[in-house]
Amino acid sequence: MQLRKLLHALLIAAGFAAATTASAKEMRLGLIVPVTHQWSQAAVAMGEELKQKSNGKYSVTIFPAGQLGNEAQMLQQLQTGALDMAFMTVAEVTNRVQDFGALYAPYLVKDVRQAGMLLNGPTAQKLLERLPREVGAVGVGYGVASMRLMLTSFPAQNAADLKGRKMRITPFPPVRDFYQMLGAASTPMPLTDVYDSLANGQVDGVDADMELIWRMKFYERGQTLLHTNHMMFPVVGLVSARLWQQMPAADRDLIASTAKKHLNGLFETYVAVEREMLKNVQGTKVKVVPADPSFFGDVLKQWEAEWLKRTPLLADLRREAAALK
Ligand code: BEZ
Repeated sequence: MQLRKLLHALLIAAGFAAATTASAKEMRLGLIVPVTHQWSQAAVAMGEELKQKSNGKYSVTIFPAGQLGNEAQMLQQLQTGALDMAFMTVAEVTNRVQDFGALYAPYLVKDVRQAGMLLNGPTAQKLLERLPREVGAVGVGYGVASMRLMLTSFPAQNAADLKGRKMRITPFPPVRDFYQMLGAASTPMPLTDVYDSLANGQVDGVDADMELIWRMKFYERGQTLLHTNHMMFPVVGLVSARLWQQMPAADRDLIASTAKKHLNGLFETYVAVEREMLKNVQGTKVKVVPADPSFFGDVLKQWEAEWLKRTPLLADLRREAAALK
């Protein structure tokens, strides 16, 4: 009798374990940034919380530093279901849905805190709703990188110094237009190639941010940091729409809310990270030149006129941004 009871208990335990394993889902999440980058750290923290809150049903394995390919390739993998999740630059999404380009309006927000408020506002949130239909992935929330600035390998004081210079850009239209209007030779290039290209003169400068300049050691190849803070640089959490369709509603809610929490956490994180990285860069040989909108002269008006033609959402975002404190 005792033995039968024991066997029965063992069978139940084994069955439960098998059921849990069978329904457990390891989500593969891709990023192009290195593992030390704040986006990767946010993804790891999200995975840990998800695992704990789902009692092990969901876990997340991250593939940083473009291990799964570039963002265009990762977006395709999300569409086919070969990849489950990505923390991706909105730059890549803009290559598919032009309206997202309005988020890169120069001086739309003054800092990462305001970026957070605008990205959680009605226009940016409505943009997320279009992603399943237009890119085959579900947008679960935004985060941000630090504000954009420029590092040059030559002494620079004003925007005229950029004319004719080869400036590395993230390849997407709003930034390409901006540098063309500045008279620079915009040179599309992934992050991984920037350090060597600055060293061997393939580019004379980079459009980047304070974290990249410090953590990827670009400052070693720079002379001037133009501290312009000229654009925000959002990241979006994407889940494969194929995977999403197969999930129970409660699981979707859990994944969406956990991802959003950790992505949104970046707004606060970068207030401190920017301060710390600026201090680090100030301790190097790089000359930090503060700059405000007047640095760019008429280029800001030109950019605005061009992009108001491309997307009506720019006017909406400007209105929302004007109301931010
Ligand atoms: C960039 O292309 O500059 C970039 C990419 C990912 C995160 C931050 C910046």
